[in-house]
Amino acid sequence: MAGTETAALPRHIAIIMDGNGRWAKRRLLPRQAGHRAGLTAARHVIEGCARLHIGALTLFAFSSENWQRPQREVGNLMDLLMHALEDEVRELHANNIRIRFVGTLEAFSPDLQQGMRRAEELTVMNTGLALNIAASYGGRWDIVCAAHKLAAAAVSGHIRPDQIDEARLSRALVLPELPDPDLFIRTGGEQRLSNFLLWNLAYTELYFTDRLWPDFDEPALQTALNWYAARQRRFGRTPEQMKEEAGA
Ligand code: FPP
Repeated sequence: MAGTETAALPRHIAIIMDGNGRWAKRRLLPRQAGHRAGLTAARHVIEGCARLHIGALTLFAFSSENWQRPQREVGNLMDLLMHALEDEVRELHANNIRIRFVGTLEAFSPDLQQGMRRAEELTVMNTGLALNIAASYGGRWDIVCAAHKLAAAAVSGHIRPDQIDEARLSRALVLPELPDPDLFIRTGGEQRLSNFLLWNLAYTELYFTDRLWPDFDEPALQTALNWYAARQRRFGRTPEQMKEEAGA
């Protein structure tokens, strides 16, 4: 990935890894084969982000709505997650990657929950890429949990209701210490957020590609990064204001 060092790199990337099922169907393979190929793609993208010194990567591995999939597919996805925890964590740790799981983790089996906790504990001191795996996660759930925390703080007298502002609500979400994603990527051709990080994506650059997730390799990541580097991020200001600020 030469040549990106000088371009503007996102500090935090969020990805919806869509298209595993279609990738498998096109090859007349079971959906599970698509998810396995998706895990390989995830590994390559994680390695790519770590190599580029991107601060944080948040992957949508399983949404709160994914529980509604056929029981067999949910079971297969859980097995894949378990294997990923057993096989990948050591390598991620060796690469100084810090792993965190966010979502209603109590919905997972005790074994899986324990595997997630172990992965977090093993990597907690790592200072490289912050890798967040959103599992049984929903953006609205995240905001509602934050509202509960702030309401409880107000009821117990720790804060006044009028002290609830954007900064406080941001700090009550599941990724409080990370900058909001600069770049959001969704593979698989759909152009929607699907209840992912709704609060955090307010000013994020949104990149959609038809490429199916198992085909999203390092050159594809590079294409997304080049697209991002060419974006002008104005955060509500005019192009003229941006020019003035750049010259100041
Ligand atoms: C969406 O494809 C993908 C998922 C619901 C699961 C994503 C899981 C992985 C990539 C593997 C696990 C990854 C980690 C990081 C542990 P889809 O099934 O909706 O595809 P389709 O839209 O073509 O049917």
